[in-house]
Amino acid sequence: MVGVFPEQRPRRLRTTPAMRRLVSETTLRPRQLILPMFVAEGAQAPRPISSMPGVVQHTRDTLRKAAVEAVNAGVGGLMLFGIPATRDAEGSGAIDEKGILNVALRDLRSELGDATVLMADTCLDEFTDHGHCGVLDADGAVDNDATLRVYAEMAVAQAEAGAHMLGPSGMMDGQVGVIRRALDEVGHSETAILAYATKYASAFFGPFREAVDSQLKGDRKTYQQDPGNGREALREIELDLGEGADLIMVKPALSYLDVVKAAADISPVPVAAYNISGEYAMVEAAAANGWLDRERTVLEVLTSIRRAGADLILSYWAAEAAAWLD
Ligand code: PBG
Repeated sequence: MVGVFPEQRPRRLRTTPAMRRLVSETTLRPRQLILPMFVAEGAQAPRPISSMPGVVQHTRDTLRKAAVEAVNAGVGGLMLFGIPATRDAEGSGAIDEKGILNVALRDLRSELGDATVLMADTCLDEFTDHGHCGVLDADGAVDNDATLRVYAEMAVAQAEAGAHMLGPSGMMDGQVGVIRRALDEVGHSETAILAYATKYASAFFGPFREAVDSQLKGDRKTYQQDPGNGREALREIELDLGEGADLIMVKPALSYLDVVKAAADISPVPVAAYNISGEYAMVEAAAANGWLDRERTVLEVLTSIRRAGADLILSYWAAEAAAWLD
């Protein structure tokens, strides 16, 4: 019998680089990337974060320079995290206008104006001496509603300091609505909210804990989601949309690409995904060992998050990848 040859030949569209470029389905552009950055109060020199090679806790000065470089490389925005010199149970450094995050926001807004979208992490974990994302009640449990009152003040302080967009990441119920109302009441109705709508209690946050000198003992399972729960993500998203989220986020990204896809399918607002510290660390460790081609792997990771449906990606590779893509 004569061999049966395929009538359908998808390989035709893969024959040359020009052909592949023509039919490429997924775009990855610098403007779609957001760079998370760390700034440490009182730092005299940038402090390396050992589990995140290439990422540092900046001084106010080096933060400014690195932010300008990232913006010049074309990134769409910057997400700022602060590491205070001292902490307390209420995380009061978060609402103090002289607190490191608010000071650094002022630095960057005066340096960059509206040339980028300046974002702030609106969460207490970096500022509390117990490391939780909220304040505690008498039994040591995270007190949702007492935390909301602090978030409201923190949000106003960040807007006053020049943030264009706030990223409430603490997974307290009602946080988006409370922040929206607090901002509007004092005239910051233009400040946008990027809601960490669905955030899982993930082991992949490990390196971030070093990045912010986290004081946490235990875990965040009473407020972050169980990694097995996909349907619950849709509920969290709907709640945040109802409370006025301008954008929503899924976090982490790589182990949750199905959630990114589900969010993208239903969301009327832009969807972001956070390519988090542990996802960064895995690739960096393998690349350092020569086990993976670093640049190809990074671009594949970012492309896969875009393919799943994320409009925007927060990534520690944002500035470097933006330069490669340019
Ligand atoms: C909470 C916050 C965390 C991250 C971003 N915001 C830590 C956590 O929830 O434990 C993690 C980011 C990363 O791992 O890259 N403020």
